[in-house]
Amino acid sequence: MQEVLAKLKERRAQAHLGGGQRRIDAQHAKGKLTARERIELLLDEGSFEEFDTYVAHRCTDFGMAEQNTPGDGVVTGWGTVNGRLIYVFSQDFTVFGGSLSETHAQKICKIMDMAVQNGAPVIGLNDSGGARIQEGVASLAGYADVFKRNVRASGVVPQISLIMGPCAGGAVYSPAMTDFIFMVRDSSYMFVTGPDVVKTVTNEVVSAEELGGAGTHTRKSSVADAAFENDVEALAQTRRLIDFLPLSAREKPPVLPLADDPNRVEPSLDTLIPDNPNKPYDMKELILKVADDRDFFEIQGDFAKNILTGFVRIEGSTVGVVANQPMVLAGCLDIDSSRKAARFVRFCDAFNIPILTFVDVPGFLPGTSQEYGGVIKHGAKLLFAYSEATVPMVTVITRKAYGGAYDVMASKHIGADINYAWPTAQIAVMGAKGAVEILYRSELDDPEKIAARTKEYEDRFANPFVAAERGFIDEVIMPQSTRRRVARAFAALRTKKVEQPYKKHDNIPL
Ligand code: HXC
Repeated sequence: MQEVLAKLKERRAQAHLGGGQRRIDAQHAKGKLTARERIELLLDEGSFEEFDTYVAHRCTDFGMAEQNTPGDGVVTGWGTVNGRLIYVFSQDFTVFGGSLSETHAQKICKIMDMAVQNGAPVIGLNDSGGARIQEGVASLAGYADVFKRNVRASGVVPQISLIMGPCAGGAVYSPAMTDFIFMVRDSSYMFVTGPDVVKTVTNEVVSAEELGGAGTHTRKSSVADAAFENDVEALAQTRRLIDFLPLSAREKPPVLPLADDPNRVEPSLDTLIPDNPNKPYDMKELILKVADDRDFFEIQGDFAKNILTGFVRIEGSTVGVVANQPMVLAGCLDIDSSRKAARFVRFCDAFNIPILTFVDVPGFLPGTSQEYGGVIKHGAKLLFAYSEATVPMVTVITRKAYGGAYDVMASKHIGADINYAWPTAQIAVMGAKGAVEILYRSELDDPEKIAARTKEYEDRFANPFVAAERGFIDEVIMPQSTRRRVARAFAALRTKKVEQPYKKHDNIPL
């Protein structure tokens, strides 16, 4: 008996060594953790239950029969994050560069199937040279099996991808179909074709970092949702994100014990809006002052900064926040901000996360680059996303809500349940200057007349009461009481139920 137990220990130790100490040292020398070290940091201590430790590839070409490492380059299983179940796979770069073989894919598929069946998130730690070259089409088939499962799991359980090394070629498409992508600065990259192919085809010279590093994907392409300094920070922030999310679409978001008074008033909010309507202010201040414990998990913080998206808690419950940011492009909507917010709204709706919208929007950004880029279709994404959402929605207009952007930003008309406005709100087709220039074109040479017309327009429309008179705004509230009002509104909406007409699925303007 002792001999059998010793044998098991030996086999485990061999499997845990992956591609061997030399390759583990090389991984550490690049500032990267190993697949197992990453899992240990992601999960609660001692909670990891591994599957398929001894799975081996079946390839015999190119001398592969002699090279077989137990586990085949990916560590899979389940564990807990703050006591809540999650499934995880972690690619082991020390084994054939973490490349994906038929059996490697089967291991990933197994945990994805269990995650969907049991209703728990899938976290993928990606660090891979792509398709296992020696396996050819068997590897490509393996990728496709994973892709199909990503789509099947989409909207059923949260899927989070951490890119912690190379992720190239078709391999990028599995993370691309998950809900969130986090990257590690300087040690991860994602691209469909690498710098060498780019040089051959387009003659462009570009480094891997410039082409597909964390900076590129968080600031330019918006493929990634956040970038972190190193593996440790990325894993810690993933744990923090998981704490905000329900385990599946069958559940409501988690409720944390409450330390922050929901009735807390914030007198400083009464002076947040500058007297000059063209002066910006930081919308993040409002989000932080409304959130429990000033805790805001921002999503896509480095992209389309004219809109803010992220998670907070109110009375301990997760709420998704979408907010125009007057500090950037005056908070206007454009292609990028519409796409960013639309995707966020759809995630929240899919996972029963109520949505809080703060509005200060002068309209859509004008210009040929926007029109040629399809702002009509991209703006429609946000309109569509809000309109189809059935989760509780509360909207607060702090200042401008002009034109089509008023409708789009979670107006009552497209499905928000409770719409508040601060007394500083201005709800109109457009700002006074633009309106007067159109309505009184013939008087434009007369500054006095124009000033009088502008004042007349402002007196009539630069306030929330015209909308409030029609019931489009439920109540005009004191800025200082926003947290209490919003908390009470969401509390009253906890039992919201909406019946939808039958459809197979919608046809969002992609
Ligand atoms: C098999 C691979 C591999 C792969 C790396 N290795 N990629 N083995 N299949 N795809 C092995 C190497 O042989 C090496 O083995 C070990 O992993 C580490 O690789 P290095 O090259 O020494 O590491 P590094 O210098 O860090 O470079 C990493 C790398 C490079 C940039 C990822 O290895 C690379 O370019 N690999 C090939 C990438 C690629 O073209 N993949 C196919 C893409 S197409 P030893 O034994 O020396 O440790 C694709 C299609 C997917 O993925 C389609 C889905 C639909």
